[in-house]
Amino acid sequence: MMKIMSVFGTRPEAIKMAPLLKCLTKDPVVTSIVVTTGQHREMLQQVLNDFAITPDFDLAIMKKNQTLAEITTAVLTKLTPLLIEQKPDCVLVHGDTTTTMAASLAAFYQQIPIGHVEAGLRTWDKYSPFPEEANRQITDTIADFYFAPTERARHNLLISHCAPEKIFVTGNTVIDALHYTVKPDYHHDLLAKLPTEHRMILLTMHRRESQGVVMEKAFQAIRQTVDQNPDVEVVYPVHLNPNVQKAAHAILQGHPRIHLIAPLDMVDFHNFMARCYFIMTDSGGVQEEAAALSKPVLVLRNETERISGVKTGSLKLVGVAPKAIQNAMNELLHDPIEYANMCHAKNPYGNGSASEKIDHILRRSLKK
Ligand code: UD1
Ligand code: UDP
Repeated sequence: MMKIMSVFGTRPEAIKMAPLLKCLTKDPVVTSIVVTTGQHREMLQQVLNDFAITPDFDLAIMKKNQTLAEITTAVLTKLTPLLIEQKPDCVLVHGDTTTTMAASLAAFYQQIPIGHVEAGLRTWDKYSPFPEEANRQITDTIADFYFAPTERARHNLLISHCAPEKIFVTGNTVIDALHYTVKPDYHHDLLAKLPTEHRMILLTMHRRESQGVVMEKAFQAIRQTVDQNPDVEVVYPVHLNPNVQKAAHAILQGHPRIHLIAPLDMVDFHNFMARCYFIMTDSGGVQEEAAALSKPVLVLRNETERISGVKTGSLKLVGVAPKAIQNAMNELLHDPIEYANMCHAKNPYGNGSASEKIDHILRRSLKK
């Protein structure tokens, strides 16, 4: 038997680890231990409910408006005794959050092998996204198995001097998750209420480097563009980060065609994506899901580590300048050829078998 401990703490990590946990649980030679750091509370619980996952351990670290130093130290301090007690053969982490980086560091200090799911994403700018680019580079420096979603991610790992025999291109587990969630007969009261001739734009925005004036100006640009386009509705499930809540409510509230709602359960969010006209986001995971659902995305960031989606054409890197946001929205709303091209772009993130591949690789590599 091999003991695999999966550690995650935020909504996107949970969504992308859940399909893999399902595989590991079914594998007769694996004892799967699930640890949540609780970096997120409500938004993590939503995903655990959706996938019916009960963690074996919850480090429950979340505090209101937590700092990066607080998250890092809490994860290191609380995870270390658990690693010593449980002695896993491998610790799995996902992506680029502070939970990812701190859990990897805790495992490294105990000399426990680390498997990094969604390894190799890069912008090469340590402040953008902040602190995620540094988190993933640190994790890749100390990891032992790299599960890269694309060939481009493999290339990034190779030029970062990661051992080639430890890199496996698997596709992205987020595509696996979509198989569980998108339903043709889905119903939601808000969607049913929107006039059928109107076009719905799904919006999310939460990144740390955009919070403050940049985010406020972006929201003003979006509000003005909605005013100019009477057949447009915006649905924005607002992230629970207090800085994001404040800006969203101050600038976007009170418009009859802008709907600020609580974070959606994953199943609802995926079905909203499947039914929207296009998406505007600074999220990482949403950029990948949208490509698989053939939905155009305007990326509200100055760079993206999801270059594959830009190359295939489903993502457009818009930036955060108000004029650029307005131009990009109007182009997609008024140029049907451009819109169709973005809808028909190829999905570069695999066919939904990433979790099975990772399970097989771990089984082969950790066999005693
Ligand atoms: C974190 C990750 C980011 C990821 C995002 C996904 C870091 C540094 N950032 O950013 O990479 O894209 O999650 O959503 O790891 N809050 C709640 N309830 C929740 C979740 C958050 O109240 O369920 C509030 C708390 O006040 C918390 C704040 O949001 O302190 C910020 O949470 P935090 O995890 O530090 O940052 P995110 O912006 O969520
Ligand atoms: N998501 C969700 N509910 C929402 C908004 C997003 O379940 O209201 C999901 C979305 O489908 C994607 C993930 O959350 O899988 C993205 O998480 P987030 O944007 O918080 O983080 P990032 O991917 O930017 O790290």
